[in-house]
Amino acid sequence: MELLIGKTAGFCFGVERAVEGAISELKKENELYCLGEIVHNKEVIKDLDKQGLRFIEKLDEGRNKVIIRAHGIEKELYEKAKDLNIQLIDLTCPKVLKIHKIAEEYAEKGFYIFLIGKKNHPETIGTVSYCGENVYIIENSGDIDKAFEDLHEKNIDKILVICQTTFSMVEYEKIVKDISYKKENNIELEIKNTICSATKLRQEETIELASKVDAMIIIGGKNSSNTNKLYEISKKITETFIVENKEEVNFEQMKKYEKIGIMAGASTPKKSIEEIIEILQSMW
Ligand code: F3S
Repeated sequence: MELLIGKTAGFCFGVERAVEGAISELKKENELYCLGEIVHNKEVIKDLDKQGLRFIEKLDEGRNKVIIRAHGIEKELYEKAKDLNIQLIDLTCPKVLKIHKIAEEYAEKGFYIFLIGKKNHPETIGTVSYCGENVYIIENSGDIDKAFEDLHEKNIDKILVICQTTFSMVEYEKIVKDISYKKENNIELEIKNTICSATKLRQEETIELASKVDAMIIIGGKNSSNTNKLYEISKKITETFIVENKEEVNFEQMKKYEKIGIMAGASTPKKSIEEIIEILQSMW
């Protein structure tokens, strides 16, 4: 039996930066809040909760200092924090901040923004707030016609396409192809692939691993968008299991596979990955 472990499995640069940033702030503060879950992973949340980090849903539930997680927040909340006398510890991933800048710049230039992403994902909600009035969230190709309808109603002839950092590369490419096909000649189209390179590499490695093994274990939070994407990608290729931690792995069932691949989302801590690997290695 063989175990193939993804080199890109686990924390990405942005998540590492946010978690380390929170830990270093917790050393200085008695009271520290985080707006939303710092990462979509129960183990990390539990660990930081023990160290004193309180998770809040709304900014006004916080006091003194509030951490902004890697996904970023809506533009208006920076002003609101000032009104509430709250100091923000902004740990938004620099790659997400770059998208906010692009969106703002193009909105000012009069572009209509097609934002490819999950409608209810915090990153998408944050990015929308930088796009001005003229934005449409496209989750799949089925949304494209409505986006064009709104564009025509508003009489705009310039489109910028941007994308949530953790969106699936394969789906993104399909949506962009469909947009280009439906676009009339008099409309200017600018496409900026803003999918994070960490996401791209992880998805590519998942495809590579899944093609070599009899089963894949994808480790990560059930509410983690990028982990779910890896699961979707992998299950199209081979038998795939998604688990949050070692308790969720059916190790008995794993014995029937000759080769198992291990991959993990960007918010999965090393500990969760290593614990599963250790048990699997001890089995053969
Ligand atoms: Fe940032 Fe990319 Fe991670 S955008 S939070 S480094 S997945």
